[in-house]
Amino acid sequence: MNNFTFYNPTRLVFGKGVLDQLRSLIPAYGGNNILLVYGGGSIKKSGLYDQVLGHVGPNVHELSGVEPNPRLTTVQRGIDICKKEDIDFILAVGGGSVIDCVKAISIGAKYEGDVWDIITRKAKPTSAVPFGTVLTLAATGSEMNAGSVITNWETQEKYGWSSPLTFPRFSILDPQFTFSVPRNQTIYGMVDIMSHVFEQYFHHGENTQVQDEFCEGILRTVIRTAPKLLENLESYEHRATVLYSGTMALNGILAMGVQGDWATHNIEHAVSAVYDIPHGGGLAILFPNWMEYVLDEGVPRFKRLAVNVFGIDPAGKSDRETAMEGIRAVRSFWSSIGAPSRLADYGIGGDKLEVMADKAMVYGPFGHFKKLDRDDVLAIYRKSL
Ligand code: NZQ
Ligand code: ZN
Repeated sequence: MNNFTFYNPTRLVFGKGVLDQLRSLIPAYGGNNILLVYGGGSIKKSGLYDQVLGHVGPNVHELSGVEPNPRLTTVQRGIDICKKEDIDFILAVGGGSVIDCVKAISIGAKYEGDVWDIITRKAKPTSAVPFGTVLTLAATGSEMNAGSVITNWETQEKYGWSSPLTFPRFSILDPQFTFSVPRNQTIYGMVDIMSHVFEQYFHHGENTQVQDEFCEGILRTVIRTAPKLLENLESYEHRATVLYSGTMALNGILAMGVQGDWATHNIEHAVSAVYDIPHGGGLAILFPNWMEYVLDEGVPRFKRLAVNVFGIDPAGKSDRETAMEGIRAVRSFWSSIGAPSRLADYGIGGDKLEVMADKAMVYGPFGHFKKLDRDDVLAIYRKSL
């Protein structure tokens, strides 16, 4: 187990009917003049918008229309409002895209230069407008981590960045707010959650028993729950299970003492940067191909996934055969819930693979389970066509 420091200051408020806590939480963090940020309108349809307005006090400005794969131009609109209106607290109501956008706004509002400098890691933020979230979609874990992923659509670049200043002060998670998430987004969310666990499960550390069992527990839980949830999208029980899984998969707990891989996320972000596809859909296509490509870096770990998560019987098989069976089980589970499996499912052909590989390589070779160079990335894209 590696040395580690765990830091996570986000106050997590989870359960049925917890939205009214906004009334005390926003003032507790100094919020008086608020910027409310949301996406393309799902919160208006579901009625959440009106409920939120009932709890936030009179001084509210709004930024709406945050896109899935949130764009730099929208971040800049939010920064302009914050500066002009002297905003002292930002409230994100939505999925990971809205929350990620708010993280960039919160930093940009306190930064004199171009916020893209921070997203591209050329400059370090020194202060941020405090913000909280009301989460409406189980997927990214952004509600309890400091990460943010922003797309510059003009240059077709999509980068993740983070700062200790960009943890939400609080996040409100009522599973009922996720009832209206459409079937496809529900599927993408579950793929994203499982992918976050995979990114942290594939490591070369030793004596990581607790971390590994946490990972396997979350994976088994999502696998068991997914078909039941898809049968009934308004099941409180199953929505709650998946919502909590999503937060636990990427709030830093699984990362304690291990060095995760994170190559597949990088490879996927380059696809989304060029084709604007849903993040979870891209991961469903790329992850099994990454797994096959790197299998020989660590057959025992893949065997462990096969046996402990998918219940595959290793008797009479070589370790590699069992491991391969596990990877096939990942593929077939995702297909069984309706996730895409080929880039062609999004109409993506072979013409921009080189462009995507260049984008993925911007910070040089990456991946800790297996370090990937440009040729490796191209090979994974080709396998995924
Ligand atoms: O915009 P609205 O109208 O709200 O609709 C959204 C959007 O169209 C809809 N939706 C959300 N909650 C809903 C709902 N529709 C009905 N009822 C609800 N309750 O779902 C669509 C997708 O929303 P989005 O926020 O884009 O999804 P997600 O949470 O999956 O976020 C994806 C973004 O997060 C980044 C991804 O790259 C992508 O840009 N990621 C962020 C991470 C982080 N900050 O830690 C880690 C992840 O690995 C990921 O990269
Ligand atoms: Zn993800």
